[in-house]
Amino acid sequence: DTTPDIDLALFGAMGDLALRKLYPALYHLDRDGLLADDTRIMGLARQDIDAEAFRKKVQETLKKYVKAAELESTCIKRFLDRLDYIKLDFTDVEGYKAIREWHEGSGRPMTVYLAVPASIYGAICSNLQASGSLDDESRVVVEKPIGYDLESSQEINDAIGVVFPETRVYRIDHYLGKETVQNLIALRFANPLFGTQWNQNHISHVEITVAEQVGIEGRWGYFDKAGQLRDMVQNHLLQLLCLIAMDPPSNLDADAIRDEKVKVLKALKRFNRENVGRDVVRGQYIAGSINGTSVPGYLDEEGANTDSHTETFVAMRTEVSNWRWAGVPFYLRTGKRMPEKLSQIVIHFRQQPHYIFDPDQRNLAANKLIIRLQPEEGIALEVLTKDGGLDKGMRLRPGPLHLDFNSAFPKARIPDAYERLLLEVMKGNQYLFVRRDEVEYAWRWADQLVEAWEQLDRPPRRYPSGSWGPVASIAMITQDGRSWYEDY
Ligand code: BG6
Repeated sequence: DTTPDIDLALFGAMGDLALRKLYPALYHLDRDGLLADDTRIMGLARQDIDAEAFRKKVQETLKKYVKAAELESTCIKRFLDRLDYIKLDFTDVEGYKAIREWHEGSGRPMTVYLAVPASIYGAICSNLQASGSLDDESRVVVEKPIGYDLESSQEINDAIGVVFPETRVYRIDHYLGKETVQNLIALRFANPLFGTQWNQNHISHVEITVAEQVGIEGRWGYFDKAGQLRDMVQNHLLQLLCLIAMDPPSNLDADAIRDEKVKVLKALKRFNRENVGRDVVRGQYIAGSINGTSVPGYLDEEGANTDSHTETFVAMRTEVSNWRWAGVPFYLRTGKRMPEKLSQIVIHFRQQPHYIFDPDQRNLAANKLIIRLQPEEGIALEVLTKDGGLDKGMRLRPGPLHLDFNSAFPKARIPDAYERLLLEVMKGNQYLFVRRDEVEYAWRWADQLVEAWEQLDRPPRRYPSGSWGPVASIAMITQDGRSWYEDY
């Protein structure tokens, strides 16, 4: 089906997100024939430049972030021709007249993308409305973080809600646009093999790891107030957990899926002063080395204050307290400055009720489903077979039944998350976007965890950059007779 035309007003047009992610994604959509012919993009930022200089900047950014083989001069020209620029002080309502004039009478729905801090979402929305720049179909796309806790997120959502109804608000969690994350839905609900096994009778535990090699990338001001719990767990990891744990939706409609995710968020185990020290590990990186290069510790990052207790790593054991999952631990782990960039989910199936092979191999004898989000997207099912050779007797050998998307579908380029998300915005599909109550239930859960931490009052454990986090996170899972999965 074809993509409808839109007028895209991009606030924060010269910012890092726009340059690194949005223009490359829009360019790819254009190149793949997925941008409608009359779609136009208006860059809005404070910088005093003209449209020509803006196009030049976008052209440079494409050269930097798009593979040379994918840059085609006719496509670049077509894409740049869609762009225009207005210099704007976002708080000055007078300046918005130029947006109205640009959009008025175009007949295309106004799509507003707020690639700016959430503190000014409200002001922008109300200025857009006051200046008459919106139409009856206008949509708004907003980025995380939406607030810092439940209260601040409610204020922001209220301010957006005065201008845009919920059905036209697209809250981005870019993990929902990743190819393999979408595949979770296909995997779970299209394959009877998994559908029938997906509960506490057959699954012993679940691991979710989102390890990053990067540190805080010069974002001390933001990160030190947020920490890894708010930056990664409250949104990305909880979204992954919801997609794994939710009940089957009755169809693929946005609200059918989001209703099921909300039920999971409501059923998540709560922490308190007693269990938080046992079930959650907070860490902060110190200096170390990654791929042979020395990197500074968190407290030595640019702009740092030296007594910060902000966490850059979190590991936890949690549970979804409902019929399907009672008694199944969900181990979550995410950190900055880990040895590699790795996001994966491992579903550990239970062992057979009766074991007949070599007693030494008993621990091996269960299946694992490994869902790899990055770096190489793929799904592997670890199964046990007989080890080959006459002299091996009935020795077992674990090995993967492997689906690597790059080699299985070599011609298909795996699109960046933002391509898919932007396309769905244009089509008006909300199923990959986060509904207001999801954000708020996720904040409720994060807030009670922060409160438990405050009561416990324990500084984060140090871990060297380039390691897998504090040893306490390994101890946490080994106490349960398990370990973090490493092989693929
Ligand atoms: C962002 C966080 O939401 O996600 C960053 O603010 C983090 O701190 C990034 O590095 C990770 O995204 P990805 O797609 O690289 O895993």
